[in-house]
Amino acid sequence: MRQRLNSLRASIEAANDRVYQDIRAQIRRGDQPESLLRWARLALKGESARKDAGNGYGFLDELISGVLSFEEPVDAPAEMEPELVAYQPTPARHIFDLIEAVDLTADDVLIDIGAGLGHVSLLVSICTPARSIGIEREAAYVDQARRCAERLNLGRVEFVQQDARAADLSAGTVFYLYTPFTGSVLRGVLDRLRQRAIRGPIRVCGYGPCTPVLAHESWLEATTATTTRHVALFRSRIGA
Ligand SMILES: C[S@@+](CC[C@H](N)C(=O)[O-])C[C@H]1O[C@@H](n2cnc3c(N)ncnc32)[C@H](O)[C@@H]1O
Repeated sequence: MRQRLNSLRASIEAANDRVYQDIRAQIRRGDQPESLLRWARLALKGESARKDAGNGYGFLDELISGVLSFEEPVDAPAEMEPELVAYQPTPARHIFDLIEAVDLTADDVLIDIGAGLGHVSLLVSICTPARSIGIEREAAYVDQARRCAERLNLGRVEFVQQDARAADLSAGTVFYLYTPFTGSVLRGVLDRLRQRAIRGPIRVCGYGPCTPVLAHESWLEATTATTTRHVALFRSRIGA
């Protein structure tokens, strides 16, 4: 019985590997990864049927992690200041939800503030014509993200290892925050985004506990529901 189970598991893993390799080959060639997009549409359909699915992970996360195939970061994350939030990836269906809702063009630059392993920036670069930048303070995550982009031959994504408080945000037209920090650190970065918005319109996408803070910014206007369980979209209402 155990032997049959092991052989069944091995053949399922081999089948999954073939799917991952096939999708990776499409991405490397610069093609739209059709099978990945099909699975994503299926997950989004399931999500709208289960409106309260929230922060859980599912088969799409499994698929994305097989395709991106990160090695686990070897170094332990550096000690975090109290207001900084530790790494947790955005569930993949919310990333595809964001990609669909934001409708990124070749003129857009999406900046993921606190990018972790870079899922959001990588998928934006794979699935849209926009450029994307991931800013992340943790060197081990940035290293993994860069190596993944290189393996997949992605030319429109870059990763910057820096504290977001000091990072150059001027190139961004769309900013994504999965609550990378709270309190005075979030306040400081939002003030810098407000300054950026004075020079030209931007969109800001929030996920998790930072969303109610974004909803209270007088210079931002929500264009979707401002629930913490989905990515919420805002656009700036000041500036040029
Ligand atoms: C909740 S995770 C989000 C990861 C990624 N954006 C995603 O959605 O998959 C927050 C990330 O922000 C990073 N972070 C926290 N404070 C930061 C700071 N001051 N500057 C840059 N990155 C920061 C953490 O290391 C962590 O990887």
